This record gives sequence, C-alpha cells and structure tokens, in this order.
Amino acid sequence: MNEARVTREGIRIHAAEDFAGMHAAGQLTARILDEVGSRVQPGATTAEIDDFIRLRVEELGATSATIGYRGYQHASCISVNHVVCHGIPGDKRLADGDILNIDVTVILDGWFGDSSRMYVAGTPSVKARRLMQVTHDALMKGIEAVRPGNSFGDIGHAIQAYAEGHRMSVVRDFCGHGIGRVFHAPPNVLHFGRPGKGPLLEEGMFFTIEPMINLGRPETKVLADDWTAVTRDKSLSAQFEHAIGVTADGCEIFTLSPAGKFFPSF
Ligand code: MF3
Ligand code: CO
Ligand code: CO
Repeated sequence: MNEARVTREGIRIHAAEDFAGMHAAGQLTARILDEVGSRVQPGATTAEIDDFIRLRVEELGATSATIGYRGYQHASCISVNHVVCHGIPGDKRLADGDILNIDVTVILDGWFGDSSRMYVAGTPSVKARRLMQVTHDALMKGIEAVRPGNSFGDIGHAIQAYAEGHRMSVVRDFCGHGIGRVFHAPPNVLHFGRPGKGPLLEEGMFFTIEPMINLGRPETKVLADDWTAVTRDKSLSAQFEHAIGVTADGCEIFTLSPAGKFFPSF
C-alpha cells in the first residue's frame, strides 16, 4: 500500500485504513437506496420519496451531504424521464412507466457515500428498460477497467464504446469525481475518452463513476431553477453511480447493494 499523498494531478492517494470509512459510508448509502425501492410507485411524489430518504439518513446516524450544498435543499436528486441529473424533488406525482434516477450522498464519520440507481414507477416501456440496462452495464464496463496501471481514459473509453455500440449517447456535460473526506475532489472522471489517456490509476484513489446515457442526442441544458439538467431533444436519460476505491488488483465498490438490488432496483 502506498503512503497517503496527492498526485501531480491533485488526486489524493488514501491509506489502507481509509477504505473502512468509505465502505461504511457507501454501505449506508446503498441500504437507503435499497429501502427506497418499494416507495417508488405511480401516484407517489418525488418530495415524499425525498422525505423518506432525509429521515433514514438521520435515523442511521449520518448527515445528508446535499442539504445546504451550494444552496441545494434536499436529501436526494430525483431525475425523472428526460431529466439527466440534479432533478429537484417536488409535488409532481409519478405516472405508470416513469423511470427515475435517485441519487443520495451521505456523510458518515467524515466520509462521503455517493450512489445512484434507476427505478421504475409501474411498468417501463421496452426502450426505457433497454436504456436502463445499457446504462447499468456501461457503468460496470467502466468499473471493470479500474486497476492500477490503467488510466482514467480507459474507464471513459469502456463506457463510451459500450453505450455507443448500443446506439445510445454519453452525456459530456457532467462527470464523476474524486471523493473521500470531501464530496467533489479531483479528478473529473469522464465517461468518454481514449485508451491510455488521462491520469494513471493508483491504489488508494477513491472516486465515483456515474455515466448518464441518453436514447437520443448527448446535449443537455439546465432549467431556470439552476439545477435540473434535461436532454435538449427531450429523449429519455438514465444514470447509475458507484463510489469505488482502487485496490492492488482492481477495485472495491463501496456502494454495492447489501440486498443485491442495485439493478433492477425494483
Ligand atoms: N450526488 C451528486 C453527484 O453524484 C451531486 C448532487 S449535488 C446536489 O455528484 F446538490 F445537487 F445535490
Ligand atoms: Co457523484
Ligand atoms: Co451522486
């Protein structure tokens, strides 16, 4: 194991004992994402789902990392259908066939747990189901590329090649990020790229991979609320996010579902 230090690119190399803190924070996040699945139903509002998440974060002895973050006031982001990310929970009711990403970030003992998954209210269309499956599988292809000696470009390339091979597009406007005792740290983890490019992966790096994949074009725009990002062409978008730590021979996924419910989450 490396000494704790920071690389030339500003990426923190964590010590062996830091994995335990990230594991605990990641598992708490995953447990809440497991529990929330049964609340995603036609007729439910996204504000009700967020209230449940806020309550569970507190009950489990953690703090929401998103409440108060740059003025954001909710314990989750809930992004429905053509919303790409940063959807604000509200009073609109879910309809049968809606697909949604729920993104939760907690702080436990100073460590950040950050993960998101796709859920469905009722029964999804065939194309929505396919988008969610390809997005999930693209994330896992990216994670498979994580090992010391590979590069961040290898991760992005694996995700992009998989998604575009299924005639879907990768959002360029948002990326994954370093994580640890801070929410968003270097590097920007791009979900597209070229093999061998970008910083090399080293044991002890902690970061998220969180690809957003669209059925249509990759372009996004942010609505007047300054948060909600949507696809410009109104096509459906999906996202999955894990927080991981690079190990000697691969990685540990901190946010694995304790119940095996990452996908399908319903
Ligand atoms: N959880 C998001 C991420 O994956 C960030 C949400 S910030 C918020 O990085 F303020 F919108 F909640
Ligand atoms: Co994140
Ligand atoms: Co997140």
